[in-house]
Amino acid sequence: MLANNIILIGFMGSGKTSVGIRLAEKIGYNFKDTDEMIVAQEGIDIQKIFLKYGEDMFRNLESTLLLSIMDTLNKTVLSTGGGIPIRDRNVNLLRLMGQVIYLRASKSTVIDRLSGDTTRPLLKVDNLDERVEKLLLARTAIYERAADVIINTDGKTIDEIVKEILL
Ligand code: S3P
Repeated sequence: MLANNIILIGFMGSGKTSVGIRLAEKIGYNFKDTDEMIVAQEGIDIQKIFLKYGEDMFRNLESTLLLSIMDTLNKTVLSTGGGIPIRDRNVNLLRLMGQVIYLRASKSTVIDRLSGDTTRPLLKVDNLDERVEKLLLARTAIYERAADVIINTDGKTIDEIVKEILL
C-alpha cells in the first residue's frame, strides 16, 4: 500500500464530503466516501442500516470496509463517517492509509449546517443542541489524537478550507 492518500475525519457537518470532493478535483486525486461505499454495498441508506441492524452493526460495517479498501487506495481523498475514529483500530488503519486531517467544527457551526437534516440517524432527536454537545464532548479528543493536521472550518468556505489543507 502506498500511503499517498488524504483521509478526512471530523464530526457530522464538518464538511468532509464537500471539502473532499473539491480537494480531490484540485489535486487530481480520486474521491471516496465511506458512507457512500457502505450504502452501495448494502443497497440501503444509512438510516435504514441503523434501523434494521443497529449502530453496532453499522460500526462493524465501517471497520470491515476500512480493512477491505486499505490496500486499494492510491492517490485518493477519503472522506470518513464521523464515528469511524471512535474505534482505535480504525484510527490505526486510517493512519496507515495516509495523512489524517481533522476538519474541526464548533457546535454552532454543526447545528447551523445540520438543523433540518434528516439523513443522520444520530441527530434525529428533539434536542439537537444537547445531542451535538454530548457527541462533540465524547469525540473531540479522539479526533484530535487521530489527526496529523487540524483545520478549523468555522466561518470558512470550502475553497478556503481546501487552500488551507494545501498550504
Ligand atoms: C455518523 C456520521 C455519518 C454517518 C452516520 C454516523 C457519526 O457520516 O456515518 O450517520 O456517528 O458521526 P457523516 O460524518 O459523513 O455525516
